[in-house]
Amino acid sequence: MALKNVIVAGASGTIGTPIVAALLAAGQFNVSALSRPDSKSTFPEGVTVKRADLSSRTSLTEALHGQDVVICTLNDEAAQLQGELVEAAYEAGVERYMPNEWAGHDMNVEGTPMEEVYEGKRAILRLLDEKVRLAEKDGRGFAWTGLNTGVFFDWALQTSFLDISLPPAHSAKIWDSGTAQFSATTLSTVGRAVVSILTTASGQTRNKLIEIESFSVSQNEIVAALEKVTGQKWKLEKTSMEEQLGTAGANLEQGKFLEAFYVWVRAWVFSGNEGAKLMKAEEGNKLLGVGGESIEEVVGRVVRGEKV
Ligand SMILES: NC(=O)c1ccc[n+]([C@@H]2O[C@H](COP(=O)([O-])OP(=O)(O)OC[C@H]3O[C@@H](n4cnc5c(N)ncnc54)[C@H](OP(=O)(O)O)[C@@H]3O)[C@@H](O)[C@H]2O)c1
Repeated sequence: MALKNVIVAGASGTIGTPIVAALLAAGQFNVSALSRPDSKSTFPEGVTVKRADLSSRTSLTEALHGQDVVICTLNDEAAQLQGELVEAAYEAGVERYMPNEWAGHDMNVEGTPMEEVYEGKRAILRLLDEKVRLAEKDGRGFAWTGLNTGVFFDWALQTSFLDISLPPAHSAKIWDSGTAQFSATTLSTVGRAVVSILTTASGQTRNKLIEIESFSVSQNEIVAALEKVTGQKWKLEKTSMEEQLGTAGANLEQGKFLEAFYVWVRAWVFSGNEGAKLMKAEEGNKLLGVGGESIEEVVGRVVRGEKV
């Protein structure tokens, strides 16, 4: 049966917004937003807003009633309550659940607590697998699909997340040699991939983590693309993995967990490890009909403030 009624939890967020835009543009879904009762978030025309308390299963089940698909794009703090959302989705009769993946699944950096942080994501997949087995016993349909995208490329440039700053700063902090390759995906490509998962590839993506990328890239390649597109030189500063992990450790000791966490995420991205470069992205791109964008073209659009 076609997946038609889709609700997005966190629909006004960094990744919720482009997913909702792609669902609306596809013109074949009834799109709803699951939002907190006291949220000030706003949503585009055509989106039905359902309010629920993320810590109350009753409230969530009521809000999810009649939905075929739940897409979780909650912020990382709220996503710690994702177990309740999965339980409520199953109780409400939802057929497909997309968990809070949206980067990489095993973002482990040796000597940091990242392993513990990402245990939460693994626990959600185990819970979803349990629900799949229960659904088979109950003779009903239920499946999940996780989407791993690497770094959100345009977002990362706009926020200097990759330690590379756009004009007027023209600066970058290069980690070690700056050559470590990592996967990156534009926000609009993530949105189009979600639409494919719910339509043309709904069968092939059941109970799987799917990887995609717009391209794989390094810090040096991004700086080169920026310099070519703008005709200006970037001010480069050097740093090392060791120095950065030391800074994160100091942040942690001072109780600044979030600041330490962002350094660890960057350490994973710039590690050159398998996982930062999504090894199955080519397969996922082909399945979902995405990818193959040009780094220079995307960088140019971001610099000019155009739609990516
Ligand atoms: N791959 C990457 O480069 C990358 C980058 C950024 C994020 N991510 C991932 O994408 C996922 C979503 O993150 P995001 O940055 O899109 O989230 P976000 O924009 O910070 O927040 C998304 C939504 O979560 C809801 N929310 C619920 N409880 C909240 C709370 N206590 N505080 C703030 N918001 C709350 C809000 O919706 P309502 O107001 O409607 O309730 C909010 O709009 C996460 O898994 C994150 O790790 C990946």
